[in-house]
Amino acid sequence: MSHQVVLRPQNIVFSVQQGQTVLEAALNQNIVFPHRCQVGACAACLCRIESGQVSYQLEPLLTEKEKEQGWMFSCLAYAESDLVITFSDE
Ligand code: FES
Repeated sequence: MSHQVVLRPQNIVFSVQQGQTVLEAALNQNIVFPHRCQVGACAACLCRIESGQVSYQLEPLLTEKEKEQGWMFSCLAYAESDLVITFSDE
């Protein structure tokens, strides 16, 4: 089972397979996606969820407020639904 991810603001679309993190899926599909450590330490892959649900095996270091604002660590996040995510702050 896979989910579709739309990456804003460029509106790039890619799919995430079950068991794959959002970052892994993007890199496998040659999508330019900011990242460094891939283990939830550097925050380079931090982006914001506009719609959809993710889950984590390893909870990232996000405050309640950041979670409410939709911030997610793409290198740790598994898609639980189709997602719209953004690197824009607006
Ligand atoms: S790539 Fe470093 S926190 Fe995700």
